[in-house]
Amino acid sequence: MLLFLLIFCFSFAHSQKQYSDHTYLIFKSTQENLNFRSNLYKDETLDFLQRSPQIDADNVIFLKPDQIEQTRQRFQREKIAFELEDVPHFDYPTPREDNKRISRRSLTDFKLTAFNDVDEQVAFMKSLAKKHSDFVELEVFGKSAQGKPLYLLKIGYPLNGTKKSGVFIDANIHAREWITSSTAFWIINELVTNSTHKDLLTKVDVYVVPMLNPDGYMWSRKRDRMWRRNRNHFSSNSESDCVGVDLNRNFPFHWSPRDIDFVPDQCHQNYPGPEPGSEEETKSLMKVLKRLSTLRAYIALHSRGDLILYPWGFAKNHLPPDVHVLIEMAHKIRAGIFSSRGNNFTVLNSADMYLAAGIAHDYAKSSGIKYSYTLELTKIREYRPTEAEIEPVGREVFAGILVLLQDIFLEILL
Ligand SMILES: *[C@@H]1O[C@H](CO)[C@@H](O)[C@H](O)[C@H]1NC(C)=O
Ligand SMILES: *[C@@H]1O[C@H](CO)[C@@H](O)[C@H](O)[C@H]1NC(C)=O
Ligand SMILES: *[C@@H]1O[C@H](CO)[C@@H](O)[C@H](O)[C@H]1NC(C)=O
Repeated sequence: MLLFLLIFCFSFAHSQKQYSDHTYLIFKSTQENLNFRSNLYKDETLDFLQRSPQIDADNVIFLKPDQIEQTRQRFQREKIAFELEDVPHFDYPTPREDNKRISRRSLTDFKLTAFNDVDEQVAFMKSLAKKHSDFVELEVFGKSAQGKPLYLLKIGYPLNGTKKSGVFIDANIHAREWITSSTAFWIINELVTNSTHKDLLTKVDVYVVPMLNPDGYMWSRKRDRMWRRNRNHFSSNSESDCVGVDLNRNFPFHWSPRDIDFVPDQCHQNYPGPEPGSEEETKSLMKVLKRLSTLRAYIALHSRGDLILYPWGFAKNHLPPDVHVLIEMAHKIRAGIFSSRGNNFTVLNSADMYLAAGIAHDYAKSSGIKYSYTLELTKIREYRPTEAEIEPVGREVFAGILVLLQDIFLEILL
């Protein structure tokens, strides 16, 4: 009996969440359903995995059991076509190796085309910084809610005396968006190993935080594939849905405005936290941005939708005074991405899709970083990013980032 209990406790402690009682609702964007669609996008009780403003593209909502019937009726009332699709069984990654061996790993052990765990990512960054110490620096810039170090990788040749311009990239602030950190590593690897970028890196520094939410990411790998927030425990029960904060609602700029219809509570996916900038991850990032006073661009990597979103996100019909410059650069990035495999991202004001306050690109723009964007990477139906996506998405996003870097390089020369 005791043995049975022990086994039961052990397996419970390692339970891996499945969502067989949930369902995906998929519907296409059309001219005709624009109003209906806009209202749905704004409905914060719905967990949208993909919003697609492009006509004929798929939108994907992840419905809880108690939302399925009412949402189905909502569509039927408006005669909007939709499909329901079962949520697949999630296969959780098995740790590739014993952790003790990771510290001894070399560059060649890290797989760019895999979703690596945090230890593997850290080992990779450490070895890059060691091997390329003339232009790659690794820094711990803070810690996560559960005390994991947060890493910032700086790529750029030292320029004595004068301060260089910088481009800052953050990834995986939302735990389940694995494709964003794999893309960040693709960018890092390309910049470090392809010597054709050397000229660029003598004028522009690239700062990358490839894993801003390591606690949440590991939770999504081990326990709950759909986890989005950090793992700050406001609740003593770690299995509870009321753990964590949506870090991309926590930044102290128009934080959690009271004039919106819906204020997410502590158990909601988009819970903005108890106060602006309350979270370790957010606070650490804010400190770094304050210190790096010469940043010209900020790119927040998210997934999904194939979108380039520009500020402001906190309110509709509020645009930065230099919005035309932002839009112009966004289209250059779009063309860069397009050149890779003909994938045409859509450039859009983020509030035109849905309101989101306290987000990183708004905060970055408000602190004076000229080109601040959110990129929503890749577009498919299911929330099951496969490793096969890593390379094509990495390549196309790098092509876009390269255009941004080259343009900033030219701005500096002029
Ligand atoms: C820049 O500084 C480094 C070390 O601080 C030094 O080795 C190098 O010679 C300097 N380069 C120039 C161009 O002054
Ligand atoms: C290095 O970068 C250049 C310019 O973007 C590109 O044409 C070339 O294919 C890259 N080389 C490799 C090995 O990826
Ligand atoms: C890509 O989108 C832009 C508008 O954002 C449009 O002008 C262009 O024609 C599109 N290109 C293709 C090949 O569809």
